[in-house]
Amino acid sequence: MLKVGFIGWRGMVGSVLLQRMREESDFAGIESVFFTTSNIGGPAPPEGGPGAVLQDAYDLKALAACPVLLSCQGGDYTTQVYAELRKSGWQGYWIDAASTLRMAEDAVIILDPVNRSVIDRALDSGLKAYIGGNCTVSLMLMAIGGLFREGLVEWVTSMTYQAASGAGAAKMLELMRQMDRLTAAANSLPNGDALSVETAVTAQQRSASLPVAEFGAPLAGSLLAWIDKEMPGGQTREEWKGETETNKILGTPRTIPVDGVCVRVGTLRCHSQGLTVKLTRDVPMADIEAILASSTPWTKVVPNNKRDTITDLTPTAVTGTLTVPVGRLHKLRLGPEYLGAFTVGDQLLWGAAEPLRRMVRILRERLG
Ligand code: HSE
Repeated sequence: MLKVGFIGWRGMVGSVLLQRMREESDFAGIESVFFTTSNIGGPAPPEGGPGAVLQDAYDLKALAACPVLLSCQGGDYTTQVYAELRKSGWQGYWIDAASTLRMAEDAVIILDPVNRSVIDRALDSGLKAYIGGNCTVSLMLMAIGGLFREGLVEWVTSMTYQAASGAGAAKMLELMRQMDRLTAAANSLPNGDALSVETAVTAQQRSASLPVAEFGAPLAGSLLAWIDKEMPGGQTREEWKGETETNKILGTPRTIPVDGVCVRVGTLRCHSQGLTVKLTRDVPMADIEAILASSTPWTKVVPNNKRDTITDLTPTAVTGTLTVPVGRLHKLRLGPEYLGAFTVGDQLLWGAAEPLRRMVRILRERLG
């Protein structure tokens, strides 16, 4: 049986990964080894086998005993361990949620419902690093991959509404602490009119005692139009990833421009995106809808009406599901080649854990 080592399985992405692997009975076909950076010798999850204990995630020999390693431990760990492990002669497959290796020439960004052929070619040519993509990019491609596949995309802008989970567990918890404080301010005026309640809530948002250590500013009841580091040309790194990762995932022969403004909003774990797609030609709406519906088995076209939009095209509807709805589909008044769309996806599922889980399956099918 294929031996797979798991590192970083206790964090948010790692926990969702384990949950999904259990739901899909993925552990049945592999021998699982669990590593830790903090609790060596502690009890491993039941999938490790009876009496199994946690191994040291910095022990290169123990790591190298696994032909497949899957890390959700984060970029610092990858930076610290990956090169050393390769230097020690390890020839195994490295699957990673962190962005560290994504743009490396000898790494593939995995999103198999969209780029299975790119993955298969890489496996055939002996590539050994398979890295999960940026969540916003992966979710955008799960929604409109069909348009790329049909060669219909000249360029895309993506205006994002990104959930707190994308920034990590601590930030998600801070958002909820901020929400608590704002709710308490509102509740302090049970008979207040809307403006008095708003004044009390705004005062809380601006109060020096609101917890903002993680985000650096209030997010609850507000938004932050900056995600990740500054890049040249006025972009943020999150925005830069849009074009670089989309093109790498698809293996495009020439770069298709992708850009936009990435914004953090006070949702919990679903990223949403408003898209403008410049089509390569005027395609009838019915054809566009059919192509989008065929993007992946999880892509769902939502009819462009109020009832379906507010029912099915929201973070509340999508959280915890693999469905990636795409709706608000209409030709923009800019011209018949300009398509407007809106999409939502669970950032921890297709945006993080699901492509990794599926890569283990692909390897299992290949390597036995
Ligand atoms: N960078 C993304 C975000 C998370 O901050 O929402 C995952 O790719």
